[in-house]
Amino acid sequence: MKKVMILALVLMLVVVAVAAAGIRGSKHDMSNSGGQNTRVTNQDDLCVFCHTPHGSNTAMTAAPLWNRTANQSNWTTNSAYTSTTLNGTATGPYTSNAISMACLSCHDGNTAGETLVNGPGSGTASVLTWQNSVFGTIANLNDAAGLTNDHPIGVLMPNAADTGLYATIQNVNVSAPGGTVQCSSCHDVHNNSIVPFLVSSNSGSQMCLACHNK
Ligand code: HEC
Ligand code: HEC
Ligand code: HEC
Ligand code: HEC
Repeated sequence: MKKVMILALVLMLVVVAVAAAGIRGSKHDMSNSGGQNTRVTNQDDLCVFCHTPHGSNTAMTAAPLWNRTANQSNWTTNSAYTSTTLNGTATGPYTSNAISMACLSCHDGNTAGETLVNGPGSGTASVLTWQNSVFGTIANLNDAAGLTNDHPIGVLMPNAADTGLYATIQNVNVSAPGGTVQCSSCHDVHNNSIVPFLVSSNSGSQMCLACHNK
């Protein structure tokens, strides 16, 4: 009996730990109670900042029921990584309409305000602009060099031209579309249990070494 109770307690703790690993309380919790000081009146919805059940932005094919306009004009030119040692081809996020575009709809240095396609609560679809007081300091990948100074995205994997990469990628999700490296190859947008939103531990650079045989 005692063993059963201990087991039940352990299971309860596991459930609590799993629940805590989601959006709630993470830096992607932009609700009123999430600590990110979002200025949308009485908005305690977690998902609405990225998803909507109705009237979503279907142009964003890489992320489901997407509730945001991606500031695509920021990314139409010259923002793909290049170098003399790159074997594959990196793309800009807009050209490939990849999941990275979804991330960059916030991490793009636009501090003026953010737009939701379908505002929360009662009423028909309406565009709602909101201000997140942390946007002034939100990590901005759209610096003067665009994405040219960031790890390449859009490169196809596995990449036969590159013997420095494992043909079979272990532990790391190489995301859609078409098996390319994207933000989500390294980050899990819903889960910050390995800071900062990493898909797997990078202690001893293990995440890097899952792809690179260096
Ligand atoms: C900061 C933005 C963001 C927030 C907030 C967010 N999501 Fe997502 N979600 C994404 C992105 C980007 C994808 C597509 C990539 C992926 O699958 O991780 C996605 C994919 C999904 C998917 C489909 C893929 C899967 O993992 O099953 C579901 C379901 C989902 N989200 C549910 C939710 C729910 C429910 C909430 C609120 C509790 C939420 N999301 C909050 C960005 C977000
Ligand atoms: C999901 C797989 C994956 C992961 C994880 C990954 N990389 Fe890469 N990395 C790639 C691919 C694909 C390329 C492009 C290779 C090519 O075409 O030359 C690349 C390229 C590079 C390059 C060379 C760029 C150039 O100009 O030649 C460096 C350096 C690099 N990655 C470092 C890292 C580091 C550091 C980490 C961990 C933080 C990491 N990578 C994690 C897939 C990955
Ligand atoms: C709706 C806006 C929004 C979207 C979309 C979004 N983020 Fe964020 N993200 C934030 C905010 C707000 C923060 C907290 C401020 C900061 O640390 O920059 C943050 C922080 C982060 C951090 C830093 C976490 C830390 O602990 O320091 C990472 C990494 C990150 N986001 C990755 C992503 C990735 C990858 C995607 C796409 C899959 C994404 N984000 C999509 C708003 C967003
Ligand atoms: C190859 C793996 C990899 C890819 C691809 C990647 N990141 Fe990261 N990212 C990391 C790692 C590892 C860290 C933590 C180390 C650091 O701070 O640079 C990080 C840190 C961050 C941070 C925290 C602030 C900072 O600059 O350190 C943000 C925000 C972020 N990434 C967003 C993104 C977005 C958006 C994309 C896609 C455009 C992306 N990342 C693509 C591995 C990656």
